[in-house]
Amino acid sequence: MPHSKLIHAALAAREQSVAPYSKFNVGAALLTASGEIISGANVESASYGLSCCAERVALFKALTDESKYQRNFTAIAIASPGGAAPCGACRQLLAEYAGEAEVILINSGSPESHTSSTMSALLPNAFTGDDLPES
Ligand code: THU
Repeated sequence: MPHSKLIHAALAAREQSVAPYSKFNVGAALLTASGEIISGANVESASYGLSCCAERVALFKALTDESKYQRNFTAIAIASPGGAAPCGACRQLLAEYAGEAEVILINSGSPESHTSSTMSALLPNAFTGDDLPES
């Protein structure tokens, strides 16, 4: 099955979710062009607004890895109850750093069925910073 390893990585990452408040456990796994998988899970705070989604945890881990080649992302798998789509904040960051990625949404309750989309479909006409003045 295509991306089965990536889907399993997202499901495994979900097991590491720290979501004591919402109890909505999410896992995400990014695939790089060179075949690396970097995963993450949501982390919540008692000050709720400080919580961070699984997608951003995975992305920030990947972007700050010492291996610069891990910046070309071809896919992201996201596992959650019901197979939720990424929030607006995550869409913005994914559009900037993983704009070419296929987005695979997995329902953790029935992981054999998943849907596939793209970042350009999830966030059309994204602001990528291209219009910013040169520094
Ligand atoms: N969450 C994610 O990690 N990813 C999503 O795509 C949607 C929401 C998290 C944030 C919070 O910890 C919990 O799910 C409930 O919103």
